[in-house]
Order: sequence, then structure tokens, then C-alpha cells
Amino acid sequence: MSNEVEAELIAKSQQLLDAIAQGDWGTYAELCDPTLTAFEPEALGRLVHGLDFHAFYFKLSGGQVKPQNTMSDIHVRVLGDVAIVSYYRLTQFVGGDGNPGTRGTEETRVWHRQEGRWRHVHFHRSPSQKS
Ligand code: GLY
Repeated sequence: MSNEVEAELIAKSQQLLDAIAQGDWGTYAELCDPTLTAFEPEALGRLVHGLDFHAFYFKLSGGQVKPQNTMSDIHVRVLGDVAIVSYYRLTQFVGGDGNPGTRGTEETRVWHRQEGRWRHVHFHRSPSQKS
């Protein structure tokens, strides 16, 4: 695996998290395959298909101070035209009381190279198991 490919996948993953934080639906949808599948806490254990479920949350993003996402403990595995990016996600935010907070989640994102371009095809996010 080349470091260049690894760096590109990390950059794509950060771009995706930035789009989520900024409520930038255009960028998010551009990075994702329309058949994206996902397990995330918001889906209550169900596998979500497609982008509509995720679009709902972009319509809500209205706070003055946008959250900031930092990936740590990043691991990239490239298997031909498929890549798995795993990391621990730290999200800094300002709560309803005006005070800053941080929450952590464990994420695995799967990318598929389609006609030379990496598209996001699946992810799994779990609440932090760290204390
Ligand atoms: N809920 C959208 C995402 O994490 O990709």
C-alpha cells in the first residue's frame, strides 16, 4: 500500500467529517455512493440504506459554533479497490448551556474506488467504549 493512497483516504475521511460538522450536504453526498449502508446509534441497531436517513441531520445543523471532528488512532487497510479506514473520533461541541464538551465514537468507514475516485460505501459508528 502506498503512503500516498493512505494519505488520500485519510484526507477523504476528514473531508467527510468536516462536511458533517459544517452541515455541508453537497460535499457529503458527493463523497458518498448513493447506496451507502450504515450502522450508527441514531438508527437504533438497524442497517440504514441510502442517503435519505443522513440528510435529515444536515437540515438540523444550525448552531453558531460548529462542532469539530478529530480522528485519532487511525488505521488504513487497502484491499485493491476497497479500503477500510478505522479511527477513534473526537467531537468537540458547544452544548445547549453554552459550555464546551467532547464526545468520542469508534468508527469504521469503507471506501470503494470507482473509475479512479474513492466513494464512501459503508460505515459503522459505535459509542465510545473508552472511559
Ligand atoms: N451520519 C452520517 C455519517 O456519519 O456519515
